[in-house]
Amino acid sequence: MADYTSVPQHDNDEVGHTYDRPQRGAFLRKKSTLLLATAAIALLTTTAYFIGASNELSPRKVHFEDVNISGRHFAQGLAKCRAIKRENKHVYPAPESRTKNQRFVNGTVPTLFKNGYIFDGENESFKGDILIDQGLIVQIGHGIEAPKGVKVVDLKGHIITPGIVDMHSHFGVDSWPALEATSDTNEMTQPLTPFIRSIDGFNPSDPAREWILSGGVTTSLILPGSGNVMGGEAYTVKMRKVDTLSTDDMLVQAGEDEKWRYMKMACGENPKRVYGEYFNKMPSTRLGEGWLLRDQFAKATELRRAQDDWCHAAEELPRWGRHRLDKPFPEDLQYESLVGILRDEVKLNIHCYETHDLEAMVRHSNEYKFKIAAFHHGLDAYRVPEILKRAYNGIPTVATFAGKFGYKKEAFQSSVNAPKILAEAGIPVAMKSDHPVLNSQHLVYEAAQAHHYGLSELLSIASVTTVPAKALGLDHRIGKIAVGMDADVVIWERHPLSLGSHPLQVYIDGIPQIEDVDESEWSVQEEPLKFEEYPDLVAPKAKDACTEKSESGVFTGIKKIILNDNEEELVSQSGDLSVVIEHGVVVCTGHCDRHKTAMKESGGPIYHLGGEGVVLPSLLSVGAPNLGLIEIAAEDSTGDGHPNLASGILAAADGLKFGGLHMDEAYKAGILTGVTAPDSDHVVQGLSVAFATGAENALSSGAAIIKEKVALHVRVGQDSKSTLFPTVSSQIAYLRTTLKKALASSSLAPNDEFSAVVRGKLPLVIEVDNRDEIIRLIQLKKELEKEGAKLKIALLSATEAWTVAEHLAEAEIGVILRPYLCTPVQWTAQKCLPGAPLSKETGLSVLYKAGVNVGLAAHEPEDVRQLSWIAAWARSDLNISEKEAIGFVSWNLAKIVGLPTGPSGLVIYNGNPFEFGAKVSAIIGGGKAGIQCNPRAF
Ligand SMILES: *[C@@H]1O[C@H](CO)[C@@H](O)[C@H](O)[C@H]1NC(C)=O
Ligand SMILES: *[C@@H]1O[C@H](CO)[C@@H](O)[C@H](O)[C@H]1NC(C)=O
Ligand SMILES: *[C@@H]1O[C@H](CO)[C@@H](O)[C@H](O)[C@H]1NC(C)=O
Ligand SMILES: *[C@@H]1O[C@H](CO)[C@@H](O)[C@H](O)[C@H]1NC(C)=O
Repeated sequence: MADYTSVPQHDNDEVGHTYDRPQRGAFLRKKSTLLLATAAIALLTTTAYFIGASNELSPRKVHFEDVNISGRHFAQGLAKCRAIKRENKHVYPAPESRTKNQRFVNGTVPTLFKNGYIFDGENESFKGDILIDQGLIVQIGHGIEAPKGVKVVDLKGHIITPGIVDMHSHFGVDSWPALEATSDTNEMTQPLTPFIRSIDGFNPSDPAREWILSGGVTTSLILPGSGNVMGGEAYTVKMRKVDTLSTDDMLVQAGEDEKWRYMKMACGENPKRVYGEYFNKMPSTRLGEGWLLRDQFAKATELRRAQDDWCHAAEELPRWGRHRLDKPFPEDLQYESLVGILRDEVKLNIHCYETHDLEAMVRHSNEYKFKIAAFHHGLDAYRVPEILKRAYNGIPTVATFAGKFGYKKEAFQSSVNAPKILAEAGIPVAMKSDHPVLNSQHLVYEAAQAHHYGLSELLSIASVTTVPAKALGLDHRIGKIAVGMDADVVIWERHPLSLGSHPLQVYIDGIPQIEDVDESEWSVQEEPLKFEEYPDLVAPKAKDACTEKSESGVFTGIKKIILNDNEEELVSQSGDLSVVIEHGVVVCTGHCDRHKTAMKESGGPIYHLGGEGVVLPSLLSVGAPNLGLIEIAAEDSTGDGHPNLASGILAAADGLKFGGLHMDEAYKAGILTGVTAPDSDHVVQGLSVAFATGAENALSSGAAIIKEKVALHVRVGQDSKSTLFPTVSSQIAYLRTTLKKALASSSLAPNDEFSAVVRGKLPLVIEVDNRDEIIRLIQLKKELEKEGAKLKIALLSATEAWTVAEHLAEAEIGVILRPYLCTPVQWTAQKCLPGAPLSKETGLSVLYKAGVNVGLAAHEPEDVRQLSWIAAWARSDLNISEKEAIGFVSWNLAKIVGLPTGPSGLVIYNGNPFEFGAKVSAIIGGGKAGIQCNPRAF
């Protein structure tokens, strides 16, 4: 086989996904080398296997004594034939018959968990005890007595679940921090590489292991990426550290004879983009992808037939004498794994999004008779459950995201209700991370979102336990709490589907994984949280209610009202508060009896929230990349485009487009104001604009454009390295020179944004992550201030800002954390705290306690709709008031970028928005007229 060692590689699973978007410059620079190198690779040659004429083989045609293969090779061939034919492969002994986990570590102390609420992965929770020994769950019941030598852990009513199973991870092959050296996900030198294996590149020392584990994930399927039509073989590992540092010892089935094998393939945009767009070779279309895949399966089918014919002939030989065949058992390593798929010994996992991609694969599966274990991502699958059911030999599982959408065309038609719709149609639904695209540590958050959008509690838990375990063929070992299963369990701080919950302790093979856990500190939990079902707002009968003509109304049945930083929040346990709106203005909050009576008399609308209503101010998104500028990140033509090194200062207002899906999703979630800056490769990105997310266009009535020039945005660090600024030092030098020049010029020149910055008239937002770079910028601020400058500076992204929190507080520099919970993905920004249970603090908590004015931003435009949940998560981590948490995504941000802090609109919920389950029932403002009711129907 060709030697690839000199071929530059590039890793990217979600090709075109902005999470790990290839750095354009770097990719193009490599392209010529890559093309040369691939030209040297010999085309795959097809080898045909015939013993006589393959399809009419009979004992008569077989050569006997005149053979030339050795007796040993003949015997080996026969052994392979027997292995192929052996029945009951992958039929494992019933769990109850197991006496020891194959991965058991000598010396592991047996443990009895008492008084837990047990979610077994299938059934309603029940209170009980669990005894584990020999790395297995050996007893489940009530009042189990601890045998001698058993450690007793009192769960005090905490929930215990099976270990979380992530069936789509690149942990270990796309290791942290992301370097060329650590990128081993995609062998993108030819589109068909079913023969490569993720195990050969897997790094057991990827620091992500501990993080992922701390989120309760105990097993991961390590897939190659999706750049190739056929990506390669995958492996399941447990997240427990092994002393040997051996990948083989990490395998779930280490010590088990009959191991499942897995394969990753991909359809749709990725392969055609990689090969067509970057290399100008096949596949450049889905048509090419289909051909390449069928051609491979045709060849694999031919090899399988040759093998079966060989076996048939060999077994038909007379039993006496020393008869042999004249050719060895036909084999070809290039097609071996595909033959394994055809023989149902390799579980096929396919990255596929669009309806027509899914159907093409189903068509291929029926043509070549292979089974599809799972479609991955599959954001369109909810539209075609009937097509999925036509797949050969069984319904595929759909392993999907709950929150991600829109980054590519094929991810654009998604629905938040997809998991529920699929489950109701009889399709097994799993949630997965695509780590590091999503940090696998927070996989359970995906399940929680699926639950919020309608997937039942039990199916949501199953989506990260029993369902993926079954799809992996490992349901005889993992995914359930039942006698005989591996002792992989997670003890949760609160219900795992509640916002911000995290594990207290994680066990794998019966061994506790989180160090320094003091069980005696665990609080006593009463009842497991029951998810509140709140009634939907019913539109009042009054004329024009819930329309754009409805400018006035009374909202009743409200429990809590939080409007402003400087106003007390109102709370009424009986839920009898009201909010009165007249001509779009709040005229009364609280008891408002006079207004209610007047409204009743005039026949005006009274909106009743059922006693659980909560009123919040509009939330604010600052710094989510490209919100309103580019609709589909992978497609420049869907918006303003990508300015490379444009000279002059760009204004995002010039590129803003209203009415897109991302803005609409933000609006529906109550984020009524967005602030977006241009996204340039230049150090100076440009001027951000503030806009109403619900507006139809810039001219529509109401304030569509809230402020045209909000702040000047610059970027320092890795992402701004370019031909013009190849180093970070050149970026900072440019900033220093430019700011000093502006300060030296005697007056505020019109349109000189830097002059406005040094005179404190325009905030400067600096996107930066590294501690030393941040320190340099603090020093620059002080230096400029000594020379007479006035500066309003904020940091954006700011991964390592917490390490200098006190200095930032003292220098009055605000911080916009993006995302809320970081990962140590960048070499120069590895100082990042994982949060509970690994660290007591987070970046946010350190900054908050130091008194820094801090806000939270969405990492990607599709995450903007999650801002209220992100704030609620932060609240539970910090144990602060709801009002303070709201500040992180509203007035704190407004202060940082100099926008008015009062609410620019109202968002009314039918329940507690600090937990899953509540819906936005009404919106006032946000660029739409009137009172909009139930903006998201579900
Ligand atoms: C085996 O025998 C066949 C003919 O019977 C011949 O063509 C072939 O070269 C031989 N192979 C070896 C390795 O000697
Ligand atoms: C574990 O203990 C068993 C029985 O006590 C013993 O047979 C085995 O060799 C031990 N394994 C290791 C790896 O020490
Ligand atoms: C769920 O309950 C059923 C009925 O009691 C039982 O057969 C099944 O084993 C339970 N599931 C698990 C994972 O224990
Ligand atoms: C959270 O804060 C409240 C008071 O505001 C306190 O009573 C409670 O003990 C705190 N919880 C934790 C886990 O620190």
